[in-house]
Amino acid sequence: MIEQIAPRSAPELTDDDILELYAGAPIPPSGPPPVPSNGRIRVNFVTSLDGSATVDGRSGSLGGPADLRVFDLLRRLADVVLVGAGTVRTEGYGPMRLHDADVVWRRNHGLPDHPVFAIVSGALALDPTSPIFTEAPVRPLILTVANAPDGPRAALDAVADVIDCGDTTIDPAQVRAAVVQRGLPRIHCEGGPSLLGALIAADAVDELCLSLSPTLEGGAGPRIAAGRSAPRTLRLAHVLRADDLLLTRHVR
Ligand SMILES: NC(=O)c1ccc[n+]([C@@H]2O[C@H](COP(=O)([O-])OP(=O)(O)OC[C@H]3O[C@@H](n4cnc5c(N)ncnc54)[C@H](OP(=O)(O)O)[C@@H]3O)[C@@H](O)[C@H]2O)c1
Repeated sequence: MIEQIAPRSAPELTDDDILELYAGAPIPPSGPPPVPSNGRIRVNFVTSLDGSATVDGRSGSLGGPADLRVFDLLRRLADVVLVGAGTVRTEGYGPMRLHDADVVWRRNHGLPDHPVFAIVSGALALDPTSPIFTEAPVRPLILTVANAPDGPRAALDAVADVIDCGDTTIDPAQVRAAVVQRGLPRIHCEGGPSLLGALIAADAVDELCLSLSPTLEGGAGPRIAAGRSAPRTLRLAHVLRADDLLLTRHVR
């Protein structure tokens, strides 16, 4: 059960209630969620109370069912799901294929069945025979740099659209422009910390959805962002609660 506790309180939320809260505006009963004109980058993370983004190297066991529910609902609202190659490799991502209920909802709201999977990688250490590519419901994007190695680039070209978004490191402004140009303005980023650090440094984060797990992890797990300091202030849009887990949404 997920309830809202701020800015107002509301008892048990339905999936439609939750979608509308994260859309930030009413969603027409048979139309698409609001379309941001120049693209909107939403980032979603889960962390422990002591700030760890992982347990034993992965995020999976931090969140629990409520976090997973919102994780899936956020994909429902997305045109493109943006993920750093480190997270793709560590979390063992498969093809970007949504659940049947998500597909039904998307069809009813005039969206394609599945969002596009966009992987951010400079080194292109990605296996072109992985189900990510061979079982993709939509041809994935690989957002890379001009000096990426030629061999992997040629191999990945066969299974994905490989797009340069910078010379030696990924430039988030070019990432945004590249996906918006392809008609994918609702940009949903699932991490990880290096990619979020690059987005923060470029002031490219429009929204952070953060689940705060009621756990203390200790250890040396990473924070949700890595890289150089670049302080930004966001505004609290809502706080949801599922037992002791908090689900927050902060926007520009
Ligand atoms: N708690 C959470 O919600 C959450 C969410 C996501 C991930 N995680 C955890 O975070 C860890 C992974 O951390 P990470 O920092 O390696 O993840 P990451 O940001 O997903 O991946 C880093 C990789 O992405 C590419 N990349 C990211 N930004 C880039 C840039 N500006 N320019 C060029 N390439 C860029 C590079 O790929 P190449 O190496 O291919 O060049 C880089 O090595 C895992 O343990 C994962 O479980 C936690």
